[in-house]
Amino acid sequence: MVFDLTEEQGMIQDMVRSFAQKEVLPKAAEMDETGRYPEELVRKMAELGLMGIAVPEDYGGAGMDNICYVIAMEEIARACASTAVILSVNNSLACDPILAFGNEEQKRRVLPPLASGRHLGCFGLTEPGAGSDSGAQKTTAVREGNHYVLNGTKNFITNAPQADTCILFAMTDKERKHKGITTFILNMKSNGVTVGKKENKMGINASATASIILEDVKVPVEDRLGNEGEGFKIAMHTLDGGRIGIAAQAVGIARASLEDALAYAKERKQFGQPIANFQAIQWMLADMATEIEAARLLTYRAAWQKDRNARHSKESSMAKLYASEAAMRASVKGIQIHGGYGYIKEYPAERHFRDAKITEIYEGTSEIQRLVISQALLKG
Ligand code: CAA
Repeated sequence: MVFDLTEEQGMIQDMVRSFAQKEVLPKAAEMDETGRYPEELVRKMAELGLMGIAVPEDYGGAGMDNICYVIAMEEIARACASTAVILSVNNSLACDPILAFGNEEQKRRVLPPLASGRHLGCFGLTEPGAGSDSGAQKTTAVREGNHYVLNGTKNFITNAPQADTCILFAMTDKERKHKGITTFILNMKSNGVTVGKKENKMGINASATASIILEDVKVPVEDRLGNEGEGFKIAMHTLDGGRIGIAAQAVGIARASLEDALAYAKERKQFGQPIANFQAIQWMLADMATEIEAARLLTYRAAWQKDRNARHSKESSMAKLYASEAAMRASVKGIQIHGGYGYIKEYPAERHFRDAKITEIYEGTSEIQRLVISQALLKG
């Protein structure tokens, strides 16, 4: 077993770390405060080849592996969790399903703009009544000649206000329940598509979340992804990959909590000495560092499994479950180490706490991850 990064993985880590520290981190507090979408950072990430990291060069991507993807995600999230989720959704939830399930024409037409960052993608699975129970889709798609007519509402859609393309799920045959779901590559500029108002969230404020309302939207048959009825499988397969990205985001947030707390503990003096001299603080730092290391290893392992084209549902759920809960614990300890200063917005500790919370919820709650893991164990 080799734990060293390859030359390419090491290079991407250095490059993204330098970009994140110099250009993303200085803006993170302001973007959190104002909820401003980081358009200029997304453009820069596109120039660096980060919007389609694991998409082959033939289709406009950077042609790297999924370890490179999680390395980049961790570095961006360490600086700004909002910017990281914009990146994650485009890579995992928009590019990935087209790469895995698209036909050659779709890959040549839709992937290059998404993977190069000229277009932005989003993922329309969640509905007001279909969150954890993602099979309970109410959005309908009715075939009429050479197109489908879509009606329904998607909600909590990351990137919806800026997205050009949405990987969207709808019922083509409700009698067949989850086997009646079909996936579409929706052009967000289509007639009948309306993006709802931006949600006012607890954290990841610079990433925009909104509903998508579909009223008699015509989608050409050539924009159906996969066959009719394959949608649920496509959604689950896509989320297996997406959860690895969110695990990496959580590792980045946890690292931000640790690194900020470590710096503060060395600086802050009480009882005549830096608080880092006290075991009470040292033990918290030790626990944070250990859990971050474990979370990163689980995340790398899941990405490695994906790179080998092996089923990775259990591994990605384990990575997301552990990393998101470790990020929550680290962010709580980060605030505690900062004392009263951890509770005010002048320090980033409270932002890490608010940003960490969503990683236990989106792309499947911790309860859903436990379900996926236990089902894999029971099936053997
Ligand atoms: N890959 C391929 N196929 C899969 C699969 C996978 N990972 N998981 C399940 N399937 C298949 C099963 O084999 C089964 O197939 P058959 O019917 O042919 O036997 C079928 O799907 C149904 O499987 P289950 O019976 O296990 O399905 P279920 O209804 O019990 O649901 C679930 C499973 C795990 C609860 C699933 O609904 C789920 O993951 N829910 C959470 C949804 C979620 O993560 N939403 C996130 C929204 S996106 C988001 O958050 C983006 C963002 O903003 C950042």
